Formats: sequence, C-alpha cells, structure tokens
Amino acid sequence: MDLNFDSQKIIYLDNAATTFPKPREVLEQATDAYARFGVNPGRSGYDLCLVAGELVFETRKALATFFGGDKPERLVFAANATDALNLAIQGLLGRGDHAITTTVEHNSVIRPLDHLRRDHGVEVDFVPFEQGGLVDPDEIARRFRPNTKLVVVNHGSNVIGTVQPVAEIGRRCRERGILLVVDAAQTAGVLPIDVEAMAIDVLCFTGHKSLLGPTGTGGLYVRDGVEVRHTRVGGTGVHSAYPFHLDEYPYRLEAGTGNVLGIAGLYFAQQYLARRGVSEIYRHEMELFAILQAGLEKIDGVTLHGTTSLEHRLPVLSFTVAGRDPGDVGQLLDVDYNIASRTGLQCAPLIHQQMGTGERGTVRLSVGPMNERAHVDAAVAAVTEIAADVHAPA
Ligand SMILES: Cc1ncc(COP(=O)(O)O)c(C=O)c1O
Repeated sequence: MDLNFDSQKIIYLDNAATTFPKPREVLEQATDAYARFGVNPGRSGYDLCLVAGELVFETRKALATFFGGDKPERLVFAANATDALNLAIQGLLGRGDHAITTTVEHNSVIRPLDHLRRDHGVEVDFVPFEQGGLVDPDEIARRFRPNTKLVVVNHGSNVIGTVQPVAEIGRRCRERGILLVVDAAQTAGVLPIDVEAMAIDVLCFTGHKSLLGPTGTGGLYVRDGVEVRHTRVGGTGVHSAYPFHLDEYPYRLEAGTGNVLGIAGLYFAQQYLARRGVSEIYRHEMELFAILQAGLEKIDGVTLHGTTSLEHRLPVLSFTVAGRDPGDVGQLLDVDYNIASRTGLQCAPLIHQQMGTGERGTVRLSVGPMNERAHVDAAVAAVTEIAADVHAPA
C-alpha cells in the first residue's frame, strides 16, 4: 500500500461517487472534536459524554433544519444512503402492498424493492423516464392503485444528472395519502431540499457526497406522523430494562453506537456549506460543467447520453466513444491522463437498459465543489485525443 500516493496529481471528476477532496478544515475540526470528546454519546451522565451527546444532537438539528424539517429527533443517522433507503423501504412496505418507483433509480432503491417483491409479496411498478431523462408525475399517478403504499423516487440521477420534479410527485402522492420516499443521495448539499414544501414523507440522504462529510455517514428525515417499522433493534442507551426496541425517534431507527467522528464531520461540513453557500457551490459546479459538456459534445465520435439540458440538472454526464469500450476509455483517462472517472452501469442498470447502454454502460464524469476550470479543460482535451486515436492509422 502506497500511503505516500500523491493525490494532487489526480484530476478528480468522480464526485458523484463521493466528493473529493473534502474541505481540509472540516476534516481537521472533526478530528479535533473527536480527539477531545469522542466518547459514546447518550450512554452516561458524565460531562464528556454530555458534550458528545450535544454534538450529535446539534448535528441532527442542523441537518433537520437544512432539509426544512422542524423536528430534530426525526433526523435519524444511518451509515449511508443505502442504509437509510433500506430502513425506509423495508420499514414501510409489507405483504400485499404496492410500490411505485422509476427506471432512474440506483440499486439502493431497486434491490430493496426487488427483494421485497421476491421474498415478501410486495408488488412494484417501475415507471420509465421520458425523453430527456425526466419522469412525468402524471405517469406515476396513473399507476396508483387502492393498495399503493409508497412511491420511491430518485431526486438527482447519478448517471445522467437529471433532477426529478419531486414536489409535483409529492403533491400527487399527498392527494391520495400515498407516502413519498426520496433518494437524495446526489442532491443533498447541492440543491435546496424542503421536506414540507416538496411533500416528502421520508428523505434519505448520504453524508459523503455534496454534504461534504466523511464516508460512512448518512441518514433519513421522517416526517412527523409517518411511522417506519424498525428492522433492526438493540441498544439505545436508555430504558435498558425494556425488552423491546423503543418506538420514539430517533431511537426507533438507530441501534448501537453511532459514527461520532462522521457526525462531527457532518456538523462542521454544515458550517462550511453555510459559509460558502449551497447555491454558490451549485453555480460554481454548473459553470464548469457547462464547459465540460459543451466541449465533449463537439468531439467527433462522442455521444452524450440522457440529456444535454442544463435545466433540472446536476453536474453529472454520461458519454461513450464510438469504437471504444467505456471501461477502456476510463482506463485511458486514468493511466494516460490521471483523470478519475466512473465507467460501466454506475449501480443503476435500469436507466442504462432504457438508454440502450445496458451492456457496457458509459463513462461518467461528475464535477464537484473543489474542481477548477483546468480540470474540465483537461478532460475535454483527453477525450478529444482518445476519440481521435480510434480512427488513427496504426
Ligand atoms: C442516486 C444514488 N442513490 C443512492 C446511492 C447510495 O449512496 P451510498 O453509497 O452513500 O449508500 C448513490 C451513490 O452513488 C446514488 O448515486
């Protein structure tokens, strides 16, 4: 293992996988807090433990507010978006229920639903997206049935960057008393999210992408009145003599010792986001992204997939190069140009099936808060050379 690996030389355009690098000040503040009071929060009454508990509570409060929620206790910490989505989907659906989702989803939605379908008699409908990668809310509403319990939708695509009209979908669900679960893995921290205004019942997020926290963090905000069944139980630090897991939030969905270092990271990352401004970060990313997309679009032999609209969009794109396997293109970008991309199906097989890229996938580039103009220029130049090379005489 080369712990002296020089990450400075990498042009990192894989921010949809995780944002990198994280703001150094966030990492330093979190490590310092953990070094000073990284004990087990909520388990004892000594001062150190109370301070650790306060840090966890203040982070709940900050994140709940960030998402437009007014109940900090309904902000539940989880290991990542996948964990949060499993808690929500498994804790809300049961035998005989019908769920609706879309073909834009990540496997962290598809697989929990498919397991419930195969093993627990849950019925699932997958609504295809329209031309341009957006799902029509009316198409979802047309599939409502008397036993529809839940709609699960992706907010921002990790493959083509489209941002779904969640508020419109939420309004249709609310009119019918159907719950809406939103996968905000790609949007939390870079697009405004308001659970009330968007009629979201359960918001699932990850901490290590645009929220700029460490990996191993994430969670869900569960609207007041929505009761998610617990699917894992254990120690909570309170009411230890009671034989069953507590129903009160956040204990209801949290069991065992939490990720205090990671939560400290989320806390200080919230301060970073407030200083730099979420809308300013989005503006910065989209400005670079527009240059990247326009540059790639002009290259002979390069096809952009999904959409090229900059409206309702995250700074994520998928492309292929005629005559080249996407995996090979990614390898060339890495080995010859030090550019980090993501190739293949990006854990979202249905979107690729619908786009006709289901066999080999695409090359994905995604811009993050730490990228600069030189990074996107380098990517355009590299893909230009790779595409030209395919047809070059030997
Ligand atoms: C749309 C979407 N949903 C869910 C996830 C899963 O997030 P995590 O790996 O943090 O569980 C990802 C991660 O790439 C994603 O892009």
